[in-house]
Amino acid sequence: MIDIHNHILYGVDDGSKDLEMSLAMLKEEMDNGVSLIYLTPHQNKNTLTGTILRDRYQSFLSEVKEKGIDMDIRLGAEIYYYPGLKQDLISGKALTMDDSKYVLVEFSTRTETNISEIIYELSVAGYKPIVAHIERYPYLKKADYFDIKDAGALIQINAGSFSHFSMRGIIKYLLKNDLVDYVASDAHDPIKRKVDFSFVHGYIKKKYPSFYTKLIEMKKIG
Ligand SMILES: [Fe+2]
Repeated sequence: MIDIHNHILYGVDDGSKDLEMSLAMLKEEMDNGVSLIYLTPHQNKNTLTGTILRDRYQSFLSEVKEKGIDMDIRLGAEIYYYPGLKQDLISGKALTMDDSKYVLVEFSTRTETNISEIIYELSVAGYKPIVAHIERYPYLKKADYFDIKDAGALIQINAGSFSHFSMRGIIKYLLKNDLVDYVASDAHDPIKRKVDFSFVHGYIKKKYPSFYTKLIEMKKIG
């Protein structure tokens, strides 16, 4: 299994605070059956720290190796959409997932945003945009999810969202209509917003066994 969305890289955003916390989160990933992790620290228009993130990633890899942890860890980012993102992706200021064409993008949860239009623009430019935690945009209507998918998006939901009553209905709808591509942890720490894929190993395994198999057999993002 892979985890394409988490804040395990320490000291760069509101996720892990230090190495110790990151190591505890890596252990949780392993306990949940994850063998490949894409680290996705927050990036936005004002905090584009592509170079810093790359440096921190390299030192983190060495520290993890020193601890004897054998895990495939790649670098990506969760980018808060802003006009001009496309140019920053091209220039390398904004990070894609492991330097591929896949880009994890999040949007405002409050201001209504034409997500399908943005997805289309990124797709036409050759990127494979992944909409981060799509269940968290309350202004989206059921038809919008299909439009977003048709525009070229891959769709990610958070494993933890299923425990929130307000998002449970939409998650069930997305699964039923085969709209979900990835279930990720979006973990920020080892306790409150922890790595917990019990939703995958429980609900999805029981209700959508073929999707479950796809998730646990997933070896990389594409
Ligand atoms: Fe996130």
